[in-house]
Amino acid sequence: MSLNAKLLRETFERAKIENGGATALGMRFYARLFEKYPAVRPLFSTPPEEQHKKLLASVASIVGAVEKPDILVPFLHAMGIRHLKYKTESAHYAAVSENLVSVLAEHLSKEGEWTEEMKSTWEDALKTVSKIMIEAAENPNKFQEELTKAGFEPNGFKKDDPRPWVAEGQSGEA
Ligand code: HEM
Repeated sequence: MSLNAKLLRETFERAKIENGGATALGMRFYARLFEKYPAVRPLFSTPPEEQHKKLLASVASIVGAVEKPDILVPFLHAMGIRHLKYKTESAHYAAVSENLVSVLAEHLSKEGEWTEEMKSTWEDALKTVSKIMIEAAENPNKFQEELTKAGFEPNGFKKDDPRPWVAEGQSGEA
């Protein structure tokens, strides 16, 4: 995966401490998502106060495992397949990605810099993440062997792990 891991990590570390930290970023993510894309609101039943922790833990996992495709790719395939249960459509990924980049831009430009390079780095990363999640969501059967090997159930969940959004070897701290 030819993503700029260093810049992704640096900016994500900043996001956790600047401008109210991860909670402020996560809460703003859902406020803006529901304001700008009201059609997706009914898909969410978990309140943003809880949901944002899962989202940010998954982003922490992605950023942490970006140089480990053997862990990251099955993790993302499983996550894409789990999203079928949430009635997510492939077309929604562009909205969620746009929303995350915009919210990061707002958040990081308050106390420090937000550059064109940071923007394109996050856009590229989310494009890659979306592509991998969608490829599994659109053809789950193709990835069953890989999922089993990585310890996931056919539906993308894990039998004895209540936090499937934390990748192997990652703490899930955001
Ligand atoms: C960048 C890609 C995305 C990431 C990293 C992500 C991350 C997550 C995580 C970590 C969860 C917690 C549950 C689980 O892991 O199974 C979740 C749940 C969910 N996601 Fe996503 N997601 C992404 C894209 C989307 C898209 C495009 C939609 C469509 C609107 C969406 C809608 C949902 C819904 C509805 C839930 C369940 C919420 C609930 O429990 O009420 N996600 N997502």
